[in-house]
Amino acid sequence: MQPQLAGTVPEVRRAVAGARARGQSVGLVPTMGALHAGHLSLIRAARAETGYVVVSIFVNPTQFGPKEDLARYPRPLDQDLRLCAEQGVDLVFHPEPAVMYPPGFCTCVEVEGLQDVLCGASRPGHFRGVATVVLKLLTIVGPHAAFFGLKDAQQVRVIEQMVADLNVPVTVRRCPTVRESDGLALSSRNQYLSADERRRATVLNESLAEVRRRVEEGERDARELVRLLRERVEATPGVRLDYAAAVDFNTLQPVEELRGAVLVALAVYFGTTRLIDNVLLNVP
Ligand code: PAJ
Repeated sequence: MQPQLAGTVPEVRRAVAGARARGQSVGLVPTMGALHAGHLSLIRAARAETGYVVVSIFVNPTQFGPKEDLARYPRPLDQDLRLCAEQGVDLVFHPEPAVMYPPGFCTCVEVEGLQDVLCGASRPGHFRGVATVVLKLLTIVGPHAAFFGLKDAQQVRVIEQMVADLNVPVTVRRCPTVRESDGLALSSRNQYLSADERRRATVLNESLAEVRRRVEEGERDARELVRLLRERVEATPGVRLDYAAAVDFNTLQPVEELRGAVLVALAVYFGTTRLIDNVLLNVP
């Protein structure tokens, strides 16, 4: 069945109210479209847990920096709608920018601290844009549960913290990273890579897999692991390290010794394309 397509807030509210009146629970999967198997895994998780599944497709301008890829970000809407239909999505919310940001719009959400580190340090304003649009989507749709991928682990923490701090009545679900057969994490930005860059891009997952191995063998020194990541990336021709870090997954602050939930995260430039990956460790 084709999902219902909604472009305005009242249309979404009406459709979701209908589902709730029928006794269905509501799941939301926020996306920027160009859907791939990573997005589809979130949709399947929503489908499994909730009775009425809403997917939002909105390339959110406020989370792109002035020199970033907003204009060329892929927007294959017909294909996205087909994929949503195949997954049994009930409603696709695809607003125009003016619906989300009408003239006079001036309210933003800042998740202090968490928004400023890792990707936030190299993309100033990015997480303010993310938190603001996600809060809007949550208040427009009013889902019981919302589904996010751990591929963007910092984004998950920013949203969890916002939801807790602002008492948003929703359960945030963390979903595992979906990868290509060679381990590269799926991303809408992978299509920017040349054939050469695509081959080199496995340095992300391969160096993180080595980090995991070292930790399993007993390594607990965060500096040593970050050094290993930096070395691996710098040994790959044509790539530039943005950051490599080992942080407490709750605070996103650097750790010296690995203990508890530790996020080891990496951001790397291939030409102008910036890719991220991470491994979430639970160290006894
Ligand atoms: P987008 O990059 O389209 O991603 C939408 C959701 O899919 C996010 O929760 C992201 O973490 C998840 N995702 C992406 N690649 C994945 C993969 N390989 N495996 C598992 N999940 C994956 O993230 C955004 O959009 C935006 O910031 C958004 C939250 C929609 C706000 O604009």
